This record gives sequence, C-alpha cells and structure tokens, in this order.
Amino acid sequence: MTIESIISEGVSKALKALYGVEVEERDIVPQATRKDFEGNFTVVVFPFLKASHKSPEATAEEIGRWLQENEDAIEKFNVVKGFLNLVVNPHFWTKLLNEISQAKDYGFKTAPKDAPLVMVEYSSPNTNKPLHLGHVRNNLLGYSLAKILEANGFRVVKTNIVNDRGIHICKSMLAWKKWGGGETPETSGKKGDHLIGDYYVEFDKHYKEELKALENEGLSTEEAEAQSSLMAEAREMLRKWEKGDPEVRDLWQTMNGWVYAGFDETYKRLGVDFDKIYYESDTYLEGKDLVLGGIDSGIMYRKDDGSVWADLTSDGLDHKLLLRSDGTSVYMTQDIGTAKLRYQDFPIDKMIYVVGNEQNYHFQVLSLILDKLGFKWGKDLVHFSYGMVELPEGKMKSREGTVVDADDLIDRMISSAKDASAERFADMAPEESEEVARMVGLGALKYFLLKVDPKKNMLFNPKESIDFNGNTGPFLQYTYARIRSVVRRAGHLPEEVDPSVTPNEKESALIQRIADFPAVVEEAGKTYSPALIANYCYELAKEYNQFYHDYPILKEENKEIRDLRLVLSREVGRILKNAASLLGMEMPERM
Ligand code: ARG
Repeated sequence: MTIESIISEGVSKALKALYGVEVEERDIVPQATRKDFEGNFTVVVFPFLKASHKSPEATAEEIGRWLQENEDAIEKFNVVKGFLNLVVNPHFWTKLLNEISQAKDYGFKTAPKDAPLVMVEYSSPNTNKPLHLGHVRNNLLGYSLAKILEANGFRVVKTNIVNDRGIHICKSMLAWKKWGGGETPETSGKKGDHLIGDYYVEFDKHYKEELKALENEGLSTEEAEAQSSLMAEAREMLRKWEKGDPEVRDLWQTMNGWVYAGFDETYKRLGVDFDKIYYESDTYLEGKDLVLGGIDSGIMYRKDDGSVWADLTSDGLDHKLLLRSDGTSVYMTQDIGTAKLRYQDFPIDKMIYVVGNEQNYHFQVLSLILDKLGFKWGKDLVHFSYGMVELPEGKMKSREGTVVDADDLIDRMISSAKDASAERFADMAPEESEEVARMVGLGALKYFLLKVDPKKNMLFNPKESIDFNGNTGPFLQYTYARIRSVVRRAGHLPEEVDPSVTPNEKESALIQRIADFPAVVEEAGKTYSPALIANYCYELAKEYNQFYHDYPILKEENKEIRDLRLVLSREVGRILKNAASLLGMEMPERM
C-alpha cells in the first residue's frame, strides 16, 4: 500500500467519522506538498466544505486532527487556508521499507488457477525472408506485454502465427530450384532464413528482368505481368502445393525447415519465446470451412462468380472478400481458421494481436467477423497496433534490399556495447565480458524501442541507445551493477532496518518510489504499456544515483543509518531488476 492510498483512505474515513459522508478514496488525491511549506503531502479540502458546513481552515484543521489521532502514518499537520499539509511519520518509511524487503516478488501477482486467460500473439512472420527491425519492435512489445500481464495475475499464452504458405514462399522455392544448384544452409554457411530471403530477392530480380524484356518488345506493364512465365510458374507451384503434390510439399517442408531454424536462433538471441506456434498451412482450411458454414447461417453470402463475402456495411465498414471465385482463401480466411484452432486449444478470455498499424483495418474487420461467428472474445479483441521503426541512415523497406536485418542489428549492438565499455571490461574474464556486452547491447536496443509510445513511428538511433548517461538501457544496467557492487562490498546485510531510525528526505522519497512499483505494474497492465515500466525504471535509477551521489553508504559511520542505506540500495536494485525483466532486459551483476 502506498502512502498516497493510506492518506486517501484516512481522509475518507475522517470525512465519514466527522461529517457522516461517503467520499470514494479515488476522489481524494494527495499532492506532493510545495517546497515552501512543511509537509510531505497536501490534501485540498474545498470539495468537502459542503459536507462540513465550516470554513476551509476549520475543515482542514478537523480532518488533520482526526488523521493525527487515528492514522499511524501521519505524524503532524499544518493548515494553510484550504490546504491540509501532512507530515508523514518517519518510522512509517522504515516500516514500509521492511515490508518491501520481506515481500517475495514485490509488485508481481501470481495467477490463480481460474485467472482470466489472455493470449498474446506476436512476431507472426512470413517464411520467405528473415526478421527485420519492424519484427524486432513487434517481438519486444509482444514479449513485454505478456510479461506485464503475467505480473498482473493473468494466465498468459504467448503465440505466433507463421504465414508459411502462399505465393511468397513459392517464389523463393522456384528461384532456389532454378538457380540454387542444390545450395543448403550447410553448404553455403548461411542461416536458413537468410538463404531463403536471398532466393526471394533472386526471384524478384529475374522477374523484373523478364518484365523489362517484355516491355521492350512493346508490351504494357500489365500485359507483361500477365505474360510473365516466371510468375506463371510460381502460381503453378502454388496450385500444386494446394493439391498436395509430394515433390512440391517436400521442397516446401525442407525450405521452411531451414527458415524455422533461422528464426529460432533470432528469437533466442532476442530472448523471446512462444508457448504455442500456429502455422497458416494448418489453419487456412479451417478458415475456409468456417466461411462456408457462415453462408448457411446467413453471415456470409456468395456472389455469382462464386466468391464469398461478408457484408459489414451495417457496421459502417465495407464488403469483405473471404474466398476468391476459384475457392482459394485470402489473408482474412486464415485468421478466422487460426482463431478457431486457438479457441479449441485454449479457452481464451482475451486475445491480443501485436501487429503493425498498416493492418488496423484488417483487425477491425476480423473483430466483427469473429463476433458474428460466435467467438466470445471476438468483439473485444485487442489489436495492439504499433508504428514503423526506421534507422536514421535510411528508410526501412522490404524487397528493396535495404531492410535492416534483425541478426545484423543484434550483432551490431553487441559490438557497439563492446566498444562503448572496453575499459569497464578490462578486468573481466573474456566469457564474462562477452556476456555483459551481450546484455548491454540488447538492453540498449530493447529499452530504446520500448520506452516510447508504441503507436508512434520512431527512429532507432543505435548510438544514442547505448549512451551510458542518457535515458537508456545501459544507464539502468550500470546503475544496477553499481548497486550490486555496493551490496557485495558491504558483506553481511541485515534482513530488517532498525524501525527507530529516521530516514532523511531523499531516503524516504526513494522508499516511496519503490513502494510505487506495484501501482505502476498495475497501470501498465491496464493500459498495455511497456513504456510506463521503462519510464519508472528511469526515474528510479535517476533518483538512486542522486542519492548515491549525495550520501555516503559504506562509509557512513552510524551503523543504523548505514544499514538503512544498504537495505534501501539492495531493494532498489531488486526492483530495478524485476522491472527491467518486464521489458525483457537482463541486468549484469558487474560492469
Ligand atoms: N505475417 C503477416 C505479415 O507479415 C502478419 C500476421 C499478423 N497476424 C495475424 N494474425 N494476422 O504481414
């Protein structure tokens, strides 16, 4: 319980006892007392005058006296017009600190067996190319969201839908067959997802050449596209795939296998994982069935050409194609099928899709269709929509070969971490410095991408992200390592702080700050906001560093005060580490 809520509750009780009125605690918000007055928190009493029928001064006086007599946390008070300034009992802070250090995972709730089940979908790549910077933002957001929801006592299932079939993967397959000469990840030394990505680019290159040649013969662009033999071959391959042609299926299986091995490596390096992965190749037929069933129940309709649609005009949207006239399914269809399989596997109460904002309309439509089809979470599905991320050097565009590759980015972050902290690593064993550089490089990346509003487009600035003095991951990690070093050097630490010691202003502010952590976790869970956690970490780290700078800790001669500062340091460290874990960040013990 934070001191603010103790005060709110106290004032609410006082109003009831003194004037017989019920005022909700959340309508009583104590403010920090202004510097020129004595006190920690101020309550404005004007809203209570109707109940008291007294002057502001007299009302504040009465509430203040009641609190002083009945509320342990309040030591004394003073009144300035309608402002009631409250001085918190210093022992309250030590008691609070002791409570925090006794709590096992302070701020984290554990899910009861019957807690609501939330499924968080993130990543969801196509299998024709490796993961890029946009996926990195996606993965980090999704993973952090899942962690935050878990900390709020939900049961969470992390999931992924891999779009593993369709024309895109056939293009890579065809290019590999034509020009690959049997190349494999082993023979080429390339990661499987990169290898496939290269063939996707290869297809595109040949396709463009073919189009150009046709256009040179006098065809228009559309005519050339229609006549392209490469595209025709790719389509033919897709048809064979749909029919289950063993040779095409074999190749598809092999090549997707390479891609998955590659993805797994990237996921592992990013520190993200999934409880259950779905594959479009398993779900798209289910979607087809549901759509066809929807015709019978009047949810969908069929046009003369055989195509199947949903009419969403009464919901203010458009008509939406769900099956083409040749019976093949579209992107939406597989999402419907995926929803069905997921619901069969897990009794989901809430579904969150972490997908870029270019798909806002898609998820609006999906929500309506799932609702019509009777999914109880369909209507309230959450599309956790996020903006684009770019590097300062250039735009991030797929297919043009200028994509910021996720693996390259990770490598680059780790090597910048090494450069940025070469002297810090000087006295470390090589394995330790490797490990710390990994944590710092990834910490920089994660924190920078998560500290901002996900809705906004952003620039990822690698250099800025790794600055040890900025609002960065490495700044938090450095603060943590500094705390751990103090704690190590102290040797034995008491479990409890002597309750009679009086914390100074900075110390009590810091205790208040760590006591705020549970409320921050709760708020981040309600608003789906990793950024809130990130900002909390930053404020906490800044405040600790200020304290560290202003007061001696190990050198403090008064044993009780030294103990207080040490326990406080230890608890700040613990909370910083736990908070950072909600962002998927690791904290080094030394750096
Ligand atoms: N694979 C898709 C793409 O790269 C994203 C899938 C998003 N998830 C979903 N359930 N539709 O655009």
